[in-house]
Amino acid sequence: MSPKLAKLNAGTEEEFVAALGPVYEHSPHFARRAAGKRPFADVDHLRHALQQEVNHAPEEEKIALIEAHPDLVGRAVLTAESQGEQASAGLTDLSADEVDAFRRHNAAYREKFGFPLIICARMNRKETILEAFPQRLQNDAASEKKAALAEIHKIAALRLHDILWAN
Ligand code: GUN
Repeated sequence: MSPKLAKLNAGTEEEFVAALGPVYEHSPHFARRAAGKRPFADVDHLRHALQQEVNHAPEEEKIALIEAHPDLVGRAVLTAESQGEQASAGLTDLSADEVDAFRRHNAAYREKFGFPLIICARMNRKETILEAFPQRLQNDAASEKKAALAEIHKIAALRLHDILWAN
């Protein structure tokens, strides 16, 4: 077992939330709820429990979670996690034309769906994200909400792995 998970199983709820709150962007309430389900036998069980908190949340909380994410190449002040994710996809090193393309895609996507495009930046590069925008824009709102939550779980799984296995 991850030594960090053993500590989180045995520690206080506050310690658990402090460590795992950032797994879902600006949404530590999911980690707080999962704290009540301890102990977790291994990282897979913990990941699943966090996912279940999101999947079983009321619709308005799911939408709020999607909306808690920043636009890629947007103007918001980023969490440390978001900053690293955007950098890993090469989004902090764009030409002026690429920045412009992201801004136009962000605006068109938000105009249609009312929330930002969510795609796991660490599993993509700027090119694949720019390709995804027009494809995702063709979907209906229900499919995009589903896609956004699936991508959020990928983002969360990578964040969880980092937290539990970092030295
Ligand atoms: N918005 C779209 N993709 C991402 C991502 O991978 N991380 C964060 N924080 N926000 C996003």
